[in-house]
Amino acid sequence: MKIDTVLSPLELPALAQRDLRTSACVVFDILRATSTFVTALHHGAAGIIPVSEIYEAVALKRAESGKRKGETFLLAGERDGIRIRAAQSGGEDFDFGNSPREFTPEKVRGKTIVSTTTNGTRALQACKPAKCVLAASFLNLTATVEFLRQNIFSEIILVCAGTGDNPASEDVIAAGAMIDLLSPGKDTHSHKTGNTVAARVAYFEAARWGLEETIGRAQNGRRLLANPDLRDDVVFCAQRDVFNLVAAMGKDGVLRKM
Ligand code: MLT
Repeated sequence: MKIDTVLSPLELPALAQRDLRTSACVVFDILRATSTFVTALHHGAAGIIPVSEIYEAVALKRAESGKRKGETFLLAGERDGIRIRAAQSGGEDFDFGNSPREFTPEKVRGKTIVSTTTNGTRALQACKPAKCVLAASFLNLTATVEFLRQNIFSEIILVCAGTGDNPASEDVIAAGAMIDLLSPGKDTHSHKTGNTVAARVAYFEAARWGLEETIGRAQNGRRLLANPDLRDDVVFCAQRDVFNLVAAMGKDGVLRKM
């Protein structure tokens, strides 16, 4: 099976030109969007609706709350890593930022969360035309790989959400870890693109030096470690396989636990 990797958000416009109708897209935003969504779903959130812009999140929450009485919609998201406040959203203080540790069972059980983040939710949106869209993280890596193995896709595209316009090394390392599980050793039946080989090499390098340390030294890791309220997110998001769940996006654009 072909495994391709999108290393940076600058490659998303090219992804939009591709026919994804038989492909699976797996999105990684390790620090922190996809780690956060997986955590919220594990803790019982009914669904996550990822949207690109702040105004879209607010409008969607209002519209859905009006239509679907009895369901609770909450707003989540960050800009520059910090929870969105009323002054940025035209009046609504968001219920959550983007720290996975905020999404406790008490706060999320049964709730639908509309989220907008700088890169992660945009990457998920860009994958919408695909046959299957998954949100992956170190937290649910093996469960996601098992799902990909049990289903048939013409290709698997690992999409690294990045930071701003740049690649984020923790996303590339996580993609590399998935490639290693999907296609260990010299599997001649698989076809890996140049980006895929590069991601796998990045993972092997990181694993040699220690995953958590490598992630903490990269741009996003340093930014989070410098903020006393967010520093524990780095160690949290570097945990491997603590949640046995697959986070898949339905045709309605809602991420749910499978
Ligand atoms: C993003 O979507 O860019 C991030 O997850 C940023 C963050 O959580 O700080």
